Amino acid sequence: MGWIAIVPAAGSGSRLARPDPKAFVSLGGRMLVERALDMLRAVPFDRIAVAVPQERLPAMAGILHPNEIAVEGGPTRAQSVRRAFDALDPGPGDVVCLHDAARPLVSAEETARVMRAAVRVGAAIAATPLVDTLKRVDGRRVTGTVDREGLWAAATPQAFRGEILRRALSAAAEATDEASLCEALGVAVEVVPVSRLVFKVTTPEDLELAEAILARRDA
Ligand code: CTP
Ligand code: MG
Repeated sequence: MGWIAIVPAAGSGSRLARPDPKAFVSLGGRMLVERALDMLRAVPFDRIAVAVPQERLPAMAGILHPNEIAVEGGPTRAQSVRRAFDALDPGPGDVVCLHDAARPLVSAEETARVMRAAVRVGAAIAATPLVDTLKRVDGRRVTGTVDREGLWAAATPQAFRGEILRRALSAAAEATDEASLCEALGVAVEVVPVSRLVFKVTTPEDLELAEAILARRDA
């Protein structure tokens, strides 16, 4: 049984609005994609594939270890994941972890916990219970309050036995995460509660927040 990781890092980061693609933006002196690799190497994984924008493939060659590859990403996250999956071609007994480069504060310990849950159950995702009161809004008008009970925010890492992920990805559906493809197949998915620091760097203030947390850690 091999431990395999896929890093979707091929997005442009339109909401971050930086000249570089988001995964290639530096955070405390290290690019988001490098931080993802550092964390995954500490777990550790047997093999890693990173999906990056085509023009970044040459730069990746200087960063990757011998058991790691870079593939050209696709136009959507789901397609980037499929390309990386096809390049790695995991076996049915391998366990495959997907982790977005955009979540730089996830720890190796949290990732190992998600992996162990996937070994046990078949499919597991890092998630956090929602903390805010949720409003349904039409235009600017509040039309209702959504019951928060039982609602969790899904993050990455997400991990799956190879045979389950292969089946999930062979469905034609485009999804924003792989767990939803498994749910559609009726596969049981377990949540692994993690720190709220698993948040995804999406907007400029997310980057500022992540930078401040890392600076405080390094101080
Ligand atoms: N991703 C990818 N391939 C794509 C789109 C996204 O590999 N075609 C990756 C991103 O690099 C990121 C993760 O999927 O690590 C989550 O996506 P998101 O946070 O939406 O990143 P972007 O799509 O780059 O950002 P935006 O939606 O603001 O453009
Ligand atoms: Mg996106």
